[in-house]
Amino acid sequence: MNIRISINNQGEPMIDYHQPPKIEHVQYVAVKSEQETKSMEDVKNEVRDAYGGVAEANQQKESCGNGRSCCGVSAKPDPSYSQELGYSKEELDSAPEGSNMGLGCGNPQAIADLKTGEVVLDLGAGGGFDAFLAARKVGPTGKVYGVDMTPEMLSIARSNAAKEDYRNVEFLLGEIEHLPLPNNSVDVIISNCVVNLSTDKAQVFNEAFRVLKAGGRIAISDVVANKPLTKEMINNKELYCNCISGAIPINDIKQMLSKAGFIDIVIEPQKNSRMFIKDWVPSAGAEDYVISAKIKAVKSKAKL
Ligand SMILES: C[S@@+](CC[C@H](N)C(=O)[O-])C[C@H]1O[C@@H](n2cnc3c(N)ncnc32)[C@H](O)[C@@H]1O
Repeated sequence: MNIRISINNQGEPMIDYHQPPKIEHVQYVAVKSEQETKSMEDVKNEVRDAYGGVAEANQQKESCGNGRSCCGVSAKPDPSYSQELGYSKEELDSAPEGSNMGLGCGNPQAIADLKTGEVVLDLGAGGGFDAFLAARKVGPTGKVYGVDMTPEMLSIARSNAAKEDYRNVEFLLGEIEHLPLPNNSVDVIISNCVVNLSTDKAQVFNEAFRVLKAGGRIAISDVVANKPLTKEMINNKELYCNCISGAIPINDIKQMLSKAGFIDIVIEPQKNSRMFIKDWVPSAGAEDYVISAKIKAVKSKAKL
C-alpha cells in the first residue's frame, strides 16, 4: 500500500492511504493537463473559502449568504427548512446545537438503513450533523468518521463532539478525492450535498469503493442535473459553491459508479426538491435545471 503523509496549512498531518487503482479501472482514468489540474485546484480553494466563511458565520451566530441554501447560514437556523429536506423533529432535536447549519439537500439517514455496530463514513461532514445522527444509530459498538477539507468546519464538528461526549465519532481533515482511511474499512458511506462540489467525481467514487468493505454500500443525498446547465451557470462561482453548477446528469453518475466497481446502483429523485432548490439562489432559476436525488450503490461481495 502507498501511504503518503503531508502537513496541511493548519499544521495537521494528512494521511493518504491511496492505492493505485486496479488495472481494470485504469482504462477509464483520463490524464489531466497541468492547466486543468490547476483550475480544479482553484475551484476547490474557492469552495473551501466559501465553507470556511459559512462556518465562521455559524460560530458568530451571524447570517452568511442565503440561509435557505447549501452555502448559507441563518443567524437563527430554520427548522422548517430541515424538515423540508426530510429530517424529523426528533432528529433535529437530538443533534448537538450548531451542528445543523441547514447545508444539506436531503436526509441520508433515511436511505442508509444504518445498523448497530456499523462503521460509517460521512463525506464532507461539515458541522457534523449527519455524523452525529449516524452515531446514535450505530451505537457505542459502531463508529462514525466524518471527513471534511475545511478546517473551520472540522473545528465546529470536533468541538461539538467533545462538548456532548460523542465517543464513537471522529472528524478527520481531508479531501473526499483522497480519503484518509485504509482500504476495506467502512460498512456505509453517507454524504449530504457534497459530491456535486467535487471537481473530480469519478475519483470520489473510486475512493469510496476503495475504503468500503466487500458488501458495503453508499447512501448519499446529492444534487444532480436534469437538464444541461447554461454556460453562464457553469462559469458562475456563486452557483458552484451553492451546489448548483457542479451537478451532473444521473446517467453520468451511474457510469462513474459502475466504472468504480459498484453494483445495484439506484438513483431516485427526491420528490419535493424543487420546493427548496428555488430558494437557494432565488434569481437563478436553478430549480429548472437541478434536482436533489437519493443515490445508492453496493460494493459487491464477490471478488471483482
Ligand atoms: C454543502 S456543505 C454540506 C455539509 C454537511 N454534509 C451538511 O449536510 O451539513 C459541503 C461540505 O463539504 C465540504 N467539502 C466540499 N468539497 C470537499 C472535498 N472535495 N473534500 C472534502 N470536503 C469537501 C465543505 O467544506 C463543506 O463542509
